[in-house]
Amino acid sequence: MQELTVRLEMVFEQVKKARKDAVSGRVIDVGSDHGYLAVRCLEEGLAGSAVCTEIHKGPAQRSQDALVEAGFGDISGVYITDGLKGVPLIAGDTVVIAGMGGLNIVDIITRALKDNGYHVFENVTFVLQPQKSNDIVRKYLSKAGFVFVDEAVCYDRDIFYNCMRVVFKGISTTITDEEACYGPVLLKKYNSGDKAVAEYFDHLNEVFEVRQRSNPTVKAALEERKKNAGQ
Ligand SMILES: C[S@@+](CC[C@H](N)C(=O)[O-])C[C@H]1O[C@@H](n2cnc3c(N)ncnc32)[C@H](O)[C@@H]1O
Repeated sequence: MQELTVRLEMVFEQVKKARKDAVSGRVIDVGSDHGYLAVRCLEEGLAGSAVCTEIHKGPAQRSQDALVEAGFGDISGVYITDGLKGVPLIAGDTVVIAGMGGLNIVDIITRALKDNGYHVFENVTFVLQPQKSNDIVRKYLSKAGFVFVDEAVCYDRDIFYNCMRVVFKGISTTITDEEACYGPVLLKKYNSGDKAVAEYFDHLNEVFEVRQRSNPTVKAALEERKKNAGQ
């Protein structure tokens, strides 16, 4: 079985949940690098086929090698491309974009939405693991018409990570600065006493105390959080 880091295991768990009731479609890993996630998804039978996209030739080759070596050469495809360019989505697909900056993620989804249209997007699940700019990602997603289904956190080699699962409903909503910076689903989990989320929030609060000096969104989020947490 393909081993994954704690961070990628968290991403994998969200893919697993996304694929729970899926009867068709593929797992598409955008920015696959080593290809481990796609290999693991196929090993566990989460999809009939997998697609990896990579902007660079070296990682694309790595992904291809990993898939062939694991015996999945005939049910996978690796494309050297920017995001999802030239890879039309199909209803039932699960798209993973992990380990990338939030702005890159927003750019990839914006272009894919334009290329594929609402009717396809409504039947695709996205698993997103931004390395930074979570607030920008969440504000974009809600404005663009996505709904937050789940969000997980983990601590891997001294770093906290989060991973969200979202679906497209086509109805634009607005979230608060607090929701953008902490995550609407994570706020609910925190309020239900989730210990991992509480540790993650402690970490965010420390980071935000410093960042608020230069970032008005973070400043407003921190103030809202303190008020809502009764501090
Ligand atoms: C830090 S790695 C993360 C790899 C893997 N997704 C993970 O979470 O472990 C980011 C990968 O995304 C690729 N990448 C960055 N921007 C991309 C884009 N716009 N389209 C496709 N691949 C991209 C990079 O070449 C790199 O291999």
